[in-house]
Amino acid sequence: TIADHLRKYEALFTLSPQRMRMIVHAFEETLDKGLQKDGEIVPMIPTFVFGYPSGKETGEYLAVDLGGTNLRVCLVTLHGEGRFEVTQTKYRLTEEQKQDEGQKLFDFCAECLGSFITDNLGRTEKDEELPLGFTFSYPCSQERIEHGELIRWTKGFGAPNVEGHDVGAMFEKSLKKFNVRCKMTALINDTTGTLIASNYVDPNTKIACIFGTGCNAAYMEQAGNIPKMDELGLAPEQDMAINCEWGAFDSFDHQHLPRTKFDIIIDESSNKPGEQSFEKMIAGLYLGEVFRLVLTELIESGHMFLGQNTYKLEKAYAVDTAFLSLMESDPTDELLTVIGVFSYFFGLETTLEERVFFRDLAKLIGRRAARLSACGIAAIVSKKGYLEEGCAVGADGSLYNKYPGFADRIHEALVDIFGEKGKNIVTHHAEDGSGVGSAIIAAMTKSRKDAGH
Ligand code: BG6
Ligand code: GLC
Repeated sequence: TIADHLRKYEALFTLSPQRMRMIVHAFEETLDKGLQKDGEIVPMIPTFVFGYPSGKETGEYLAVDLGGTNLRVCLVTLHGEGRFEVTQTKYRLTEEQKQDEGQKLFDFCAECLGSFITDNLGRTEKDEELPLGFTFSYPCSQERIEHGELIRWTKGFGAPNVEGHDVGAMFEKSLKKFNVRCKMTALINDTTGTLIASNYVDPNTKIACIFGTGCNAAYMEQAGNIPKMDELGLAPEQDMAINCEWGAFDSFDHQHLPRTKFDIIIDESSNKPGEQSFEKMIAGLYLGEVFRLVLTELIESGHMFLGQNTYKLEKAYAVDTAFLSLMESDPTDELLTVIGVFSYFFGLETTLEERVFFRDLAKLIGRRAARLSACGIAAIVSKKGYLEEGCAVGADGSLYNKYPGFADRIHEALVDIFGEKGKNIVTHHAEDGSGVGSAIIAAMTKSRKDAGH
């Protein structure tokens, strides 16, 4: 029966506390390695964001956020004391834009920013140019705050002629081309922005995570613990935000994560086989596909949808992770939402037994993602010794914000890993990192420059 199948998948997708502790251990070693030298799998990127904000940052800033799904343009007014206002416009990126010539992507960002300024600011040539923070949420190695060389695309992007190039310079080229009046002062990652924005309102925030289309984290490290930066001659106690790019954990070697055959199919059919192993088991871009691949297996072995046409379900990435959220939160006994999802999107009829199976399968996949996420958090916590005192973790992204029970499952897993003390680590919805965070970073950068650094 279907219930027997569930038991099989339960065994595949469940992570025991012991297994999680092993992952945390390997994870911690990998984070350490990334701080030692350049070119490691998890690159632990120094961001040139020097320490937490004072909370006194004020002023008007522009922000452009190129994430994985949307392009956002924001005007942020910082009032100090952890208060701010944001006006924003959002544009959805098309699949073509993600694969089209790289410079065109930056042209699009510049054009959107240009119209946003015209619509919202009505500035004239005489007005001073506003500082702009550019949030570009892909791994970029940085030598200064407004510079960043794209190491590799992630999250399904493939636009040619960007990898290996300075995306700060590419964006500035587009700003010039469209005559956009602003001054790009900081290039940041969404996790770094989230760390700074969350700390601005809650100084107890020590770690920031994104659980969205992709998955990543940032935290603050002391220069003395970053051997690969020795040559810069910073004081050992100087704080520097680190963009971990932990989505790359266990890439290529695949020694530590319990990948299933479904994870392997996703990896091998992706545009970046071997890469972003951790991210591919967690992020919103992939969870729906894991679910779909399990169903495909059951269809092929003749256990499901006999006599029905399953072609819609057989298309790669046909199942959005949002469907899993919907199914998991279906409140009805008959699982009416699940009926709706299957009939409306895939033209398929389902029995109650199948629907219960689908919901339970979604739970297994969602729970595994949350437990793996907790392993990443636990690795930073244990590396930095934050467990005793406890700390807040600012988290953002569609999975964290919309997937039912995602945060609770992370918290449960932290207790499985650390015991009762795991309760000292609490995640909460972060302040808008790409908007507010990049504005605060632009403000911090300005005051450092004014002070002659
Ligand atoms: C937003 C943050 O809420 O979440 C962005 O402000 C971040 O900084 C984004 O990039 C990630 O979520 P998703 O689901 O859009 O990938
Ligand atoms: C991917 C990107 C990373 C980003 C994360 C969340 O992992 O490589 O830079 O922070 O997605 O958006």
